[in-house]
Amino acid sequence: MVAAARVSQSVGTPVEKAPEPELGNGIIPAERYVSRSFMQKEWERMWTRVWLIGCHVDEVPEPGDYTTTEIGDESILIVRGHDGVVGSFYNVCQHRGNQLKFSGGGTADTIVCAYHLWEYDLSGRLIHVPDSEDFPSGCPVDRLSLKALPTDVWGGHVWFNIDPDCEPLRDYLGIIPEHLDPYRLEDMAVVLNVTMEWDCNWKTAVDAFNEVYHVQGIHPELMYDMDDLSIQIDLYERHNRYLIAWTTPSQKVDVTDAVPPILAQHLVNAGGNPEDYRGKVLDIRKALQQLRRQRGEENGIDFSRLNDDQMTDDYHYFIFPNVTMNLFAEHVLFFRQRPHESDPNRMYFDVRIFKPIPEGTKKPPMPEHATYKHGEFSLGLVVDQDSVNLPHVQKGMRSRGYEGLWICDRERRLRHMHATLMSYVGDDE
Ligand code: FES
Ligand SMILES: [Fe+2]
Repeated sequence: MVAAARVSQSVGTPVEKAPEPELGNGIIPAERYVSRSFMQKEWERMWTRVWLIGCHVDEVPEPGDYTTTEIGDESILIVRGHDGVVGSFYNVCQHRGNQLKFSGGGTADTIVCAYHLWEYDLSGRLIHVPDSEDFPSGCPVDRLSLKALPTDVWGGHVWFNIDPDCEPLRDYLGIIPEHLDPYRLEDMAVVLNVTMEWDCNWKTAVDAFNEVYHVQGIHPELMYDMDDLSIQIDLYERHNRYLIAWTTPSQKVDVTDAVPPILAQHLVNAGGNPEDYRGKVLDIRKALQQLRRQRGEENGIDFSRLNDDQMTDDYHYFIFPNVTMNLFAEHVLFFRQRPHESDPNRMYFDVRIFKPIPEGTKKPPMPEHATYKHGEFSLGLVVDQDSVNLPHVQKGMRSRGYEGLWICDRERRLRHMHATLMSYVGDDE
């Protein structure tokens, strides 16, 4: 299968093909998706040593704003201090271990534990303890503080790392900022903000977004909207991506004459006329690139940092271990896959949609966050199709009749993810 090479352009995300690492071709054990002991190793050796997204910067825009995020069995409190700097802490009171904030966010001058009213300032210092003369071991004020975590900001998000000796975020991210900064994620508005409780392992969900081999099976409608054979896959030190042409049909479908409805709709949305492309379906992608740029200019949306292909194509990035992003010029689908605290067969799927807004306009507030059980809320046809399928993949992987993943070349981002994962977890066998 021949991967399409992208032509380098003077603006936009770099498109150079990365050298292919040697990853072997063995079966990837299903045990990694279903076993509690592997889950435990993942937690001890990987989740506690990687940079993770804690929240969107718009969740803590002003001094005193705070929010919480859950990862595995830990809860993390993220706070913007009076100095404007964001910090993160284990969300636990140093008195008797109560959670300081139960969930969600708010604004406060100080952090007060609801149990016995111990009070911390926004830098985590314990500043007030009721009846402090009653402690035989001495007043804990100025002796105890919240346990802080390394924290940094990039790409419109606050990141934290449970490992106190971690490398800087920028080193961890490698090529990611250079590749994604042209999209200006930090300037986009969040228009959807939900969490789904999915009945599968977090990796089962990551895998479903990191390959397009399943499009012909699960998303047949998309065969008219993406060229699933001409993908460029790049595997970096930890992270990976594919670049895939959208608004152009798969080489597997026949589009000799009429414009498929999905492409006609793209043209109409961008101010084009589908009739002009009868018999010229393969010209639509290039035409849309120009039409969308024009429409952006008319609407005050600046696409000048993106190359032409980015106006139509999916630049799909995986930031190890748990962020998958479909980056389009006109919207970004942001998915964060979080492990369940105890069950390898369950996970949390955070979905956000970002949209660029006209220059000089004020960002709308972030939508209120909502959580749903598997199947309770529609994320649109395509993700719903994945969502229906994933519990069946997870159940199959638990079967005694299944050994592991036998994967093809177009699925090699999965193999790369496992290589990175095992570089943390280590192979005990
Ligand atoms: S547990 Fe927080 S004040 Fe007692
Ligand atoms: Fe899918």
